[in-house]
Amino acid sequence: MAFLDWLRRTPAPTPLEQRRQQYQHHAFDQTLDWDWWSMPFNRIALINLLVAGKPGCRYLEIGCDSNFTFHSVATPHKVGVDPARGGTVRKTSDEFFADNHESFDVIFIDGLHHYQQVRRDVANAVACLAPGGWVVLHDMLPRTWVEQHVPCIDPSMWTGDVWKVGFELVQSPGVDFRIFRIDCGVGVFRLSAPTVALADLRPELADKEFDHYFHNLHRLPLVSWEQGVTWMQQDG
Ligand SMILES: C[S@@+](CC[C@H](N)C(=O)[O-])C[C@H]1O[C@@H](n2cnc3c(N)ncnc32)[C@H](O)[C@@H]1O
Repeated sequence: MAFLDWLRRTPAPTPLEQRRQQYQHHAFDQTLDWDWWSMPFNRIALINLLVAGKPGCRYLEIGCDSNFTFHSVATPHKVGVDPARGGTVRKTSDEFFADNHESFDVIFIDGLHHYQQVRRDVANAVACLAPGGWVVLHDMLPRTWVEQHVPCIDPSMWTGDVWKVGFELVQSPGVDFRIFRIDCGVGVFRLSAPTVALADLRPELADKEFDHYFHNLHRLPLVSWEQGVTWMQQDG
């Protein structure tokens, strides 16, 4: 009887708790304490700074959702790609790039936050980047194992494993890359050579989890807002 009483009083785990339990074998107890929401700049400020430096800027956004960023980008020449909502083109990024013949001055990659997908988005973005153009990536700096976990555990705060592409970009000849320590980590790169070869770390990184990122974070080119803006103003 006492056991039945206890059972009745114990609340059932929420779907979020169930997912955390399901992936407990990936749990890692150390975290990063960046308080993104208290910081003064975000991805929109950064994208608009880049757009302002390109008169007549042609802007492409991959993954638009509610158009929070897309509607705030200050140029009339905008293409937004999302299979579900927002933007101007109802396709996946792979479908869009397969048919695309335009080039763009600023490309923001914020679609499906899976390493292999982001890798493809980066390669496709480089192929249609105008000379002197910029590529921006969102969600490069997860703070906890739950934030970076693939499959997604908590959709209210999910970076996925976009960070893996950061380790490739920093090792890619011809790519000048930084990660701004703002707004969940905003990666920015430009090309510093006529041809680039994206480093391929898939065999090493494919099954890595948060602990690998945490222990190797010092290898990523993190910058403050001020350091990043100074870098952007220098010639590539
Ligand atoms: C994090 S939200 C984008 C947020 C938006 N860029 C912003 O700054 O507010 C991710 C979006 O990517 C879209 N998405 C998912 N898979 C995609 C794919 N394969 N190609 C393009 N977009 C994708 C989702 O539908 C979702 O709207």
